[in-house]
Amino acid sequence: MKRKQPVKKPVTLLILGAGIRGAGVAEYAASHPDEVQVVGVAEPRDFHRNYVARLCGVPPEQTFTDWREAAEKPRFADAVVITTQDAMHTEPALAFAALKYHMLLEKPMAPTEEECERIVQAVLDNDVLLAVAHVLRYTPYTTKIKQIIDSGAIGDVVSLQCLEPVTYWHQAHSYVRGNWRKESESSSMLMAKSCHDLDWIRYIIGVPCRRVSSFGNTFHFKASARPPGAADRCLDCSIEPSCPYSAKRLYLGRVMEGHTGWPVSVLTTDTTVEGVTKALRTGPYGRCVYACDNDVVDHQVVNMEFEGGQSATFTMTGFNLHKDGGRETRIFGTHGEIWTNSILIKHTDYLTEETVCYDTNASGAMLDDGHGGGDYGLMRSFIDALARGDDRSILSGPEETLETHLMVFAAERSRKNRTIEDVPFPNLVPAAVAGQD
Ligand SMILES: NC(=O)c1ccc[n+]([C@@H]2O[C@H](COP(=O)([O-])OP(=O)(O)OC[C@H]3O[C@@H](n4cnc5c(N)ncnc54)[C@H](O)[C@@H]3O)[C@@H](O)[C@H]2O)c1
Repeated sequence: MKRKQPVKKPVTLLILGAGIRGAGVAEYAASHPDEVQVVGVAEPRDFHRNYVARLCGVPPEQTFTDWREAAEKPRFADAVVITTQDAMHTEPALAFAALKYHMLLEKPMAPTEEECERIVQAVLDNDVLLAVAHVLRYTPYTTKIKQIIDSGAIGDVVSLQCLEPVTYWHQAHSYVRGNWRKESESSSMLMAKSCHDLDWIRYIIGVPCRRVSSFGNTFHFKASARPPGAADRCLDCSIEPSCPYSAKRLYLGRVMEGHTGWPVSVLTTDTTVEGVTKALRTGPYGRCVYACDNDVVDHQVVNMEFEGGQSATFTMTGFNLHKDGGRETRIFGTHGEIWTNSILIKHTDYLTEETVCYDTNASGAMLDDGHGGGDYGLMRSFIDALARGDDRSILSGPEETLETHLMVFAAERSRKNRTIEDVPFPNLVPAAVAGQD
């Protein structure tokens, strides 16, 4: 007689913010219906809300124009996915933790230390699971590097050098013209983009960071670097053909080649030539990169000292075109070293002086996957944690994520105040004490 398999129920999600990241979660759910179902969505923009609602079959009574409406209902999903903009994470995180929703929270947790601590405190007090979307921890190359280090193959890690090459057009798109251009409206560049890297470095070194120093500024994307004759908008500019940052080339050029996904989809829902031309004529993405209201850095370095005396350096630069691989890192151990471009890994042993190479994208499957497989890995791990009611598959939980956000805040203090900064210990009250009167 055939044994009946126990029926595994998919876990259920409520998405708050159906922009680029929220839609990505919905698309994952739509293609893995046995694992996960989106049962609620809150999003003010009709097109984006309707896209997720239709894709996932969300019932109208659980489709909202604001996350606050969803928070008025008793809990109706296993977890909430918070994919609103950086400065809009704290309020929903506190509200939904109190409603006992488990939580997938986009990075950065919040733009201030105090808010980050409040979110983590609320998660601990309400005993809910939290995964922060530090996707790099979930990539195949990180898993392989961790395996090599944990096997003892390079001895003790002594120092690390990490380069984050932000492609020149990505810098212009997100950090000069776009949503992350102004610290007061989102967060610092280090927090918005490179909190992933500082978090990753801490994960690889394996102990907390204790001291940081940092330098960086807006070197190029400012009025004083504006070439003579440049107009305020690329569509009106006579020198646009010679400018690598031309919005006409970066966006209309892509549309002409049939590419209408990100970053073009950020400009407008009408991704025809006419629609994108209109967006360039009137919207923020058609502006000259030397005539924007940006204030975040376009290059930055951070030096780090860790609890066991290990050191690391990090460089972010918005001036490059990396075609093969992405972040480039060298990890120096007492018995060997590792080099990676986030796809290939080379492990060199000092005793044999031999190098072994691993291709973590040998199947080619990762190329189409967000953040080198990290988006997929994060979703798998979070869903697994929800299904089992066990946080062990979450690699980016509350305490360690708070710790690495505090590294970023300390590095920013160093950059702005020209100081060497200690990284503070998280200011959390143990849950049992917090619950007492
Ligand atoms: N983990 C990563 O690697 C990664 C990558 C990109 C972005 N992010 C982060 O993800 C978050 C979202 O980024 P995005 O690119 O998807 O932004 P987005 O602007 O495309 O999406 C945010 C959405 O929130 C919606 N929103 C605004 N007010 C709302 C409200 N009251 N209730 C519900 N929804 C509301 C907006 O209309 C928008 O659609 C940001 O914090 C960003 O920094 C993370």
